[in-house]
Amino acid sequence: MITLGIETSCDETAASIVENGNVLSNEISSSVHLHAEYGGVVPEIASRFHTEYIYSVLEKALQDAGKTLEEVNLVSVTKGPGLPGSLLVGVAFAKAISLARNIPIIGVNHLSAHVLSCFLDKKGALNREIKFPFIGVVISGGHTSIYLCRDIENFECIGRTKDDAVGEAFDKVAKIMDLGYPGGPVVEKRAGEFNGKDEISFPRALLEDKEDLDFSFSGIKTAVLYYWQKCSKTEDEKNKICYSFQEAVTDVIVKKVIRAVRQNNIGILAVGGGVVNNHWLRTRLGEECQKLGIELKIPEKNNCTDNAAMIAVLGEILYKSGKRDDLYLSAEPTNNRL
Ligand code: KG4
Ligand code: ZN
Repeated sequence: MITLGIETSCDETAASIVENGNVLSNEISSSVHLHAEYGGVVPEIASRFHTEYIYSVLEKALQDAGKTLEEVNLVSVTKGPGLPGSLLVGVAFAKAISLARNIPIIGVNHLSAHVLSCFLDKKGALNREIKFPFIGVVISGGHTSIYLCRDIENFECIGRTKDDAVGEAFDKVAKIMDLGYPGGPVVEKRAGEFNGKDEISFPRALLEDKEDLDFSFSGIKTAVLYYWQKCSKTEDEKNKICYSFQEAVTDVIVKKVIRAVRQNNIGILAVGGGVVNNHWLRTRLGEECQKLGIELKIPEKNNCTDNAAMIAVLGEILYKSGKRDDLYLSAEPTNNRL
């Protein structure tokens, strides 16, 4: 079975060819450089970029895989959540291919796909032993959520952010200090340059209640803003803020995620989403899981960010388990159900 995956939920235009769980190609073209001057994604610019580039991204994905469109048996597309205009481009494109080639179409949830990306190995092959149940976590620019994953179609949300997502907080902290967009990589880099003197104690929200699995990151963002307004704004000071912020959010994420694993007495943790590129977060999670005997599934760095391989792989699994969509498939921008 050859599946074409299409992902256009935010600012990445992506297409991938997957053959029976093996990723043959994974092509991504990002409009992130166009959003940089605005300090965040501009939806209209993102959807125009998708329209302009989706066809060439598809061609490249087919070429890299050594396949033609005629050989594709299934088209799998992100139906949500995401930016409405951006999702519409991908869904309309996938429908056109489904109609023209007379092949089935399947719409998949972007967040489930992030969780599933944890089971793709270095070469992009699906580790077939997706052992349920496990705790799945999405830490991205739009979401910070914990799921109890019982089987491929039964992901129950057991914790989520009440305000900002972690990636959004990284982006806003970078914006406060005028460090550019996206904020995650630059904050991580500067945190690594901190000289170790007088770390700032930023708030770690919602940790007091020992049962609570929700997050809140708007308070720490405000704390960074207040600190910034009063500080000397030297390079050392910026590095210190980045380090202390990264340390505080990592602390909260690791504690909550481990709490979820222990509360549910589950031995497997799968963590995906753009923020999982963060080296410090990966290290802390790895250490904690090793200490407690938890099996940690974490994507390779290139599989953390939005990509279409995870969409194709999930579509293929769902199709094989009997799920079907048709040309009435619609984009679901706010659908956070998995
Ligand atoms: O999953 P993703 O590519 O898109 C969404 O679905 O949101 O995540 C993008 C987010 C951005 O907020 C970006 O700043 C953050 O992931 N990010 C990072 C790092 N790399 C990307 N955050 C922290 N550390 C990083 N190294
Ligand atoms: Zn994403």
